Amino acid sequence: MKDFDGKVALVTGTTGIGLASARRLAEGGAAILALGIDESANAAMQAVLHRSGAEALVLTTDVSRSDQVEKAIAAGVERFGGLDIIVNSAAVHPYGTATSTDFETWNRAMSVNIGSIYLTAHFGIPEMIKRGGGGIVNVASVQGFACQQNVAAYATTKGAIHTLTRSLALDYARQGIRVNSVSPGSIRTPILEKAARGDGGSDADVEAAFKRFGEAHPLGRIGEPEEVAELIAFLCSSKASFCTGADYKIDGGLTAGIGVR
Ligand SMILES: NC(=O)c1ccc[n+]([C@@H]2O[C@H](COP(=O)([O-])OP(=O)(O)OC[C@H]3O[C@@H](n4cnc5c(N)ncnc54)[C@H](O)[C@@H]3O)[C@@H](O)[C@H]2O)c1
Repeated sequence: MKDFDGKVALVTGTTGIGLASARRLAEGGAAILALGIDESANAAMQAVLHRSGAEALVLTTDVSRSDQVEKAIAAGVERFGGLDIIVNSAAVHPYGTATSTDFETWNRAMSVNIGSIYLTAHFGIPEMIKRGGGGIVNVASVQGFACQQNVAAYATTKGAIHTLTRSLALDYARQGIRVNSVSPGSIRTPILEKAARGDGGSDADVEAAFKRFGEAHPLGRIGEPEEVAELIAFLCSSKASFCTGADYKIDGGLTAGIGVR
């Protein structure tokens, strides 16, 4: 018997940590409902999950849109018979200060990064309650604790994820729903690659930047999406049965010290 046999997991974001989490939960026996905005990434995820023999439904969805999230969750419940797990990994990462970020970009960050967590909870929790409870994991960031310059909207959303996680945990604890967040340091995914490549950098520039980012972490390297997926899977599983309302850093020691090498 595997950890997630008979479970249905909703994952938002179909690349990076979302993809690794879907693969890990599927390996554990879960059926996967994945929502992403990027059609080619969605097709790639569907193919990977299909090849591994997993049951999967990957739907092109803008997770900031109430109508689309409602429809996608209904389709997943119809296909798989219910919902037990939610992993919220989708996000946008705009750069800018309060003065250089326009209001549209600010609102987009709020609605994708936070609004989507509210929406999957709003439409997903009633389904989880019907199954007697379940687990939600929200992907926050170390930027929710201590942020860099020039990421005002992004860092704000990551701090808000910590708060929304606590709020959901308290409101649904008695219905058997555990809600936690994870806060990664730098992880090798498309979001970080975009930051590393900058304006038209080469693959070698990306690797050099990853090495530089890694040196800021006491473990001396950046993390891999599979390492984050392992923590997410633990928090979704019954092994984490007394864990709720908390954040779990997975940052190679980044936030443990001040300027440590
Ligand atoms: N990679 C890192 O270094 C790092 C560090 C800390 C936190 N995080 C967080 O991890 C999570 C996953 O990011 P990642 O690193 O895997 O990068 P990623 O770019 O691979 O994943 C983000 C995903 O969100 C999807 N997405 C964006 N807008 C969407 C929308 N409106 N509707 C549906 N899907 C949408 C993208 O298509 C993409 O698949 C994010 O919440 C990110 O903030 C990443």
